[in-house]
Amino acid sequence: MQIIHTISEIRERVAAYKQAGKTIGFVPTMGNLHQGHIQLVRMALSCSDIVICSIFVNPLQFGEGEDFEQYPRTLDADAEQLEQIGCDIVFAPSVDEMYPDLFGGGCDQSQVFVPDISNILEGAARPGHFIGVATIVAKLFNMVLPDKAVFGEKDYQQLQVIKRFVEELCFPVEILSHPIVRESNGLAMSSRNGYLSEEQRQQASALYKTLCSLKKQITNHSHSDNELEFFAQIEQESIRQLNAQGFKTDYLTIRNSDLSIPTKNNKHLVILVTAYLGSTRLLDNIQISL
Ligand code: PAF
Repeated sequence: MQIIHTISEIRERVAAYKQAGKTIGFVPTMGNLHQGHIQLVRMALSCSDIVICSIFVNPLQFGEGEDFEQYPRTLDADAEQLEQIGCDIVFAPSVDEMYPDLFGGGCDQSQVFVPDISNILEGAARPGHFIGVATIVAKLFNMVLPDKAVFGEKDYQQLQVIKRFVEELCFPVEILSHPIVRESNGLAMSSRNGYLSEEQRQQASALYKTLCSLKKQITNHSHSDNELEFFAQIEQESIRQLNAQGFKTDYLTIRNSDLSIPTKNNKHLVILVTAYLGSTRLLDNIQISL
């Protein structure tokens, strides 16, 4: 496995692979890899000749006062895990390589903005976050030129943002998604789980239990005119219960799979929850097909 740090070198390698007729699978990450990431890489390996995994903590997607500085950087351990499962290339550029002008008082850079969906839920809580995500993913796609790229369903809204710009800006890449990988207690795997104490980790499993219980209630509910009232009622009750268990719930909302507000006769729903446990912001979701 090769570790590449520059754009010119990754372009050279990609050009050689393309010339040899190889297909490229791509998994963009911010590193500090856990089993969730490893499953994404395995999925890419199962459907591509060559797999490239990028590791880049992207300053553009962190807001002021967020954890950009303290975000764990564990390149050596990450590379070891990736080598073991057969990843071909790790692309780990520096901030200067990706954004030469960002901190040098340089001019504003071009950005990718996906309207509407970028401003709700996570986008409302973290203004500019999805511009940062879409911009870096677009830049990486233009460097790696993947045939397929794999993202986790844990960041559900991020996945929708990426699918939208890929379709609307005609990027020639197929977006694949992998179901959420969970700890044995149900907690969705995330690099930020490392901020939790052992006690909080146990407590955090209540998020998934809440989502499962909501899914059951919705599936068992006889669909009728008062469906929206029912959704509002179970959302409020779940928020109340989570807060009583020590969470500070940012939002818990039942949406259509495209994140629009449900109307009547909804077929594909997703319940999204974001809650603080101490100072750690946890995200989870569950999909429902009726
Ligand atoms: O999901 C992540 O780890 C990041 O948001 C991504 C997609 C690698 C962009 O920095």
